[in-house]
Amino acid sequence: MSRIFVLGSLNMDLVIESSRAPLEGETITGKNFRTCPGGKGLNQAIAASKLGADVYFLGAVGKDSFGKEMKEALKKNGVNISNIKDIEGVSSGIAVIQLINGDNRITLDLGANLKITKSDVDNFLSIATKNDIFLTQLECNFDAIGYALEKAKKIGMTTILNPAPANLEIFKYLRFVDIFTPNETEYALFSEGGMLDINYLVITLGGDGYKFVSKNESFKGSAMKVKVVDTTGAGDTFNGAFAYELSLNHEITKKALDFASKAASISVTRLGSSVSSPTLEEVLKY
Ligand code: RIB
Repeated sequence: MSRIFVLGSLNMDLVIESSRAPLEGETITGKNFRTCPGGKGLNQAIAASKLGADVYFLGAVGKDSFGKEMKEALKKNGVNISNIKDIEGVSSGIAVIQLINGDNRITLDLGANLKITKSDVDNFLSIATKNDIFLTQLECNFDAIGYALEKAKKIGMTTILNPAPANLEIFKYLRFVDIFTPNETEYALFSEGGMLDINYLVITLGGDGYKFVSKNESFKGSAMKVKVVDTTGAGDTFNGAFAYELSLNHEITKKALDFASKAASISVTRLGSSVSSPTLEEVLKY
């Protein structure tokens, strides 16, 4: 089994449920406030690790209680956290999430997530080999993400970029990406930005599953029909589960993508981001 190296964000998710979003200048009452360790990086790492993958994480938190809690959540789920830095004078990443009828609106303060340096990347990838997988998203500083993609590619790793939240600043680094996993909105933005020359494209389509496109083939896969409770982190579960499947044999097959889609479908039946991703037993028996 290959190892999965995740460079990504850790955000404490602060969630309130309400029946609608407030208008400008308006205050409304919501309910069920809760906090949950989140961030696309943390969610993807935990999703892969819960399934049984060997996951290493590079990230940064502030010296605060949220930072401690998020590191603890990763560790408890079996993720290697020896490359997570505690940074003085800056807050851990925070995501303020309004959960409205199962869908979410998110405002981020990325805080410490933007403090990754090139030398952190060098240390992190010093033990990686060409058999390993590199997975990242767009919630850390782009110079570090771009540098890491280039370095991972030089090592010969399989690189996966989940371009979320979408930002065209990363465009110049796409040549170091093997597998690109946008959702529909992100895909629309990147394809407007210029020709997308990616070897393997996986577009996640929410409740409609996913679409896969490579130079040789293209196909669609469906999602399971489930009762949706909370879609937060569903894309992260898809990416983490897909990386787990790749770590088994490096084959990008319909079976691997269907597995990821199934894991994501299960996650939306539960509340929360990282806590909603399933174990291997749960995916196999669902
Ligand atoms: O993809 C879901 C995640 O996006 C949340 O956990 C939140 O932290 C934001 O990063």
